[in-house]
Amino acid sequence: MNLMERLGLRNPIVLAPMAGGVGTPALVAAVSNAGGLGSLGAAYLTPQQIVDAGREVRELTDRPFAINLFAPQALPELSETELALAIDELAPLHAALELPTPSLPAQAQEDFQEQLEAVLEARPAVFSFAFGPLPAARLEDVRRSGGLTLGTATSVPEALALEAGGVDAVVVQGSAAGGHRGGWMQDDLADTLELVWAARENTRLPLIAAGGLMTRQHVKNALEAGAGLAQCGTAFLRAHEAGTSAPYRQALAVADAGDTTLTTGFSGRPARGLKNLVTEQVRQPLPYPYQNALTRALRAAATRQGRPEFLSLWAGVGVWEGRDGSAMAILESLCP
Ligand SMILES: Cc1cc2nc3c(=O)[nH]c(=O)nc-3n(C[C@H](O)[C@H](O)[C@H](O)COP(=O)(O)O)c2cc1C
Repeated sequence: MNLMERLGLRNPIVLAPMAGGVGTPALVAAVSNAGGLGSLGAAYLTPQQIVDAGREVRELTDRPFAINLFAPQALPELSETELALAIDELAPLHAALELPTPSLPAQAQEDFQEQLEAVLEARPAVFSFAFGPLPAARLEDVRRSGGLTLGTATSVPEALALEAGGVDAVVVQGSAAGGHRGGWMQDDLADTLELVWAARENTRLPLIAAGGLMTRQHVKNALEAGAGLAQCGTAFLRAHEAGTSAPYRQALAVADAGDTTLTTGFSGRPARGLKNLVTEQVRQPLPYPYQNALTRALRAAATRQGRPEFLSLWAGVGVWEGRDGSAMAILESLCP
């Protein structure tokens, strides 16, 4: 299947889903209006927020767009000691922002099934997901609503597992990618092009390359390696339509090559972002999704107080090549 034709895209660019405020409906719609595929990162949204955001996108574009969720995670057992260590480690950071000692909220993650029902109600052209495979019945629900399903793989075995599970296409995420590692079983932290080549040899499904695609030439290389589309996140972080906060934007604007690292400090799952106090100091995070819930107050306060050293500054290795501008101008700069 040719994804561009199937989705009626004019450009082979997918705006990466970016949960947590960056991927606003305005950004999603701007990319779709410019002929790419905008993706709404809905993983942290409540079902009602997903329905509302989907409606907002539709008010701004009649072009296809995607909605993205995180596959549900079994909640790990937490010991008292583990919890105490994680809280002790965050306590001085909280104190620096004049916040009370952190505590775990009653609900660490949204209910996936309810989120998925909201996605089905929003009827996006594409439903993408990360952090695992989904049961065939859920994929069938999406297909019945008219949507294509995209899973995320960080290695060939994960791509094969997604294919066996019945997805329509696979996002292959190389190690340069900003944000969370999207796999669940085996992360090869591979070079994006090498992963595309290897996946191309082993699966017949359409591939979407992600990770470090910051220029026209990068996108061209990914397509030549065998990807049908290129998914770009970091390139759009400084788009005018993005919800990127002011301290986050400032940190991105001065970032150099080599300023990113993989950290589990914010969420308990590995994710790539700019190095800061949290990536340097947090060494004993709780497993996902607990650490994510535990650091939510810190991240919100840091945004309000303009303190990037406490923020999850998700960014890919190519961050130094990023620029500000309209989403349309950024998309045009990526089109081969
Ligand atoms: C700020 C940010 C948030 C992200 N959030 C998500 C997400 O919610 N779901 C998802 O599947 N991928 C997410 N990603 C990863 C992207 O889908 C993609 O793999 C990555 O942006 C590609 O690499 P690049 O950042 O070098 O372009 C996020 C990336 C960034 C930079």
